[in-house]
Amino acid sequence: MAFTPWYKDMAVYHIWPRSFCDGNGDGIGDLWGVLSKLDYIKSLGVDAIWFSPLYPSPNADWGYDISDYMDIHPDFGNLEVFRQVLDEAHRRGLRVFMDLVVNHSSDEHPWFVESRKSKDNPYHDYYYWRPGRIGPGGKKLPPNNWTSVFEGDAWEYDSQLDEYYLHLFAKKQPDLNMDNPKVREEVKRILRFWLDMGVDGFREDVITFISKAPGLPNAYPRLPVANGLRYYSNRPQAHDYLKEFKRDVLSRYDCFVVGESPMTDAATALRYVTEGPEQVLDEMIAFSHMEADCFMTDFIRRPFNLVKMKKAFSSWQHKLAGKGWNALYIENHDHARVISRYGSEKYRVESGKMLAAMYMLQKGTPFIYQGQEIGMVNNPLPELEMYKDVQTFNTARIASKIMPKKKVLELIQATSRENARTPMQWDDSENAGFTTGRPWFFVNGNYHDINVKAQEDDPNSLLNFYRRLLSFRKNNAAILRGEYREYIPADKNFYVYERRHFEKRVLVICSFTAEQLRFNAPEDIDLSQWELALTNYDYSFTIGNGFTSRPYELRVYTMN
Ligand code: NOJ
Repeated sequence: MAFTPWYKDMAVYHIWPRSFCDGNGDGIGDLWGVLSKLDYIKSLGVDAIWFSPLYPSPNADWGYDISDYMDIHPDFGNLEVFRQVLDEAHRRGLRVFMDLVVNHSSDEHPWFVESRKSKDNPYHDYYYWRPGRIGPGGKKLPPNNWTSVFEGDAWEYDSQLDEYYLHLFAKKQPDLNMDNPKVREEVKRILRFWLDMGVDGFREDVITFISKAPGLPNAYPRLPVANGLRYYSNRPQAHDYLKEFKRDVLSRYDCFVVGESPMTDAATALRYVTEGPEQVLDEMIAFSHMEADCFMTDFIRRPFNLVKMKKAFSSWQHKLAGKGWNALYIENHDHARVISRYGSEKYRVESGKMLAAMYMLQKGTPFIYQGQEIGMVNNPLPELEMYKDVQTFNTARIASKIMPKKKVLELIQATSRENARTPMQWDDSENAGFTTGRPWFFVNGNYHDINVKAQEDDPNSLLNFYRRLLSFRKNNAAILRGEYREYIPADKNFYVYERRHFEKRVLVICSFTAEQLRFNAPEDIDLSQWELALTNYDYSFTIGNGFTSRPYELRVYTMN
């Protein structure tokens, strides 16, 4: 029998540490808090934890600006307590993945501090330092016209060096020059450091951006955000560098690597994940299915379009079939809560269950983001000044140029990724049981109703549904290995697909509307031959070869 790598059976719980659980009462989530929740995480039925960055950081981008890759941020603990988390997780059969953020470092990383000391400093070439251009009238201009993702121009001037450095994200996140072999050696050192400690793998941040086109050409047109994308996204050298990391380090350990890949389609992803000698990543984090209610970025909104979402999921399912493996997710720390976007806060529990089954029963590795399992929803803050995130500031700045402040606030309330960064809601005690201190960020006021404790004992809760779903997945060969076939792709209300592994079949029917609509099973499916395995309503019956669906109804049928 062919050997199946362990990551194909696993499900991952994603922790954004600052808001998960505070163990020392300073208002900030930390590793002591994580230690106290390992049994809870295990009880969900997941197999691994991915930690968003735990490293020392000045927090310009809440940890995605790293000033020391081989230590733990004092807010979160220290290496000793990290080792304890690792051991305790392993003891429970949970693997642990770190976030590897090497497209950029913090400007407070010693490498960058050195690099800006002089042009002949050995670290100068660790980053993209370039002289400016002289524009009309002798005006000094940055080396090219690229805009960053987070803060206007992608270049920042240093008057002492009379040079600019490149930052594709925030000013405090200078891009590392991966063309420099010394930088690649540093990355390998970081990988070995954590793997030798016992870590089981990495989620690699914007890894498809790590190579920039030679000459850093001007981009056209000049968009306010990330206009130079084609000159740094998915360049062939990105694959070469990842291959080198794999050859020299990763292949020597039993580890897992998932790469974040914004603006990457499934066909391009195949370059990295196709199983065989050229494979450099186990999976990639796709974005297209998160763009069903927006255009390219979460902030350019449009009404939710189910057909668009289905197309995105199906494209990855089909293109990777038999070749590579998918990462499946609908929430993380970079997006507003999914019930508030693709589901319905009015039908929070129903739509939350439907959405969970919708993505987790596809082929791939499901990722569950903290709070998703209890159906946490957006937390619109009443004032723009209350937000704390660099990307949110940038969106507000750009939006202010074209809309009144009230509209800007509405946009931010609906789309900011900070919606997903509110403290985890553990119980209905003060601050949702997240901290005994003053929480670093606003707790969602709905925590009296939505919290882990309240859902633990309720067999119909979302939390217990997630547990059932994860166990269903784990014990069903059609879900783990089966082929994926979509029905009625053009239907605007239902997402229907089948998974099949030899005789074992699973049919997933998801209504994406609050309307009651007649659902007719596809012609070659006779529902009376199938058994209802999971649903989000108490009772279900069929009339004819179908049913009248209730709001956000989910039905999962099996046939063996
Ligand atoms: C992707 C991360 O998920 C996001 O949180 C971060 O802001 C950017 N990369 C920059 O590191």
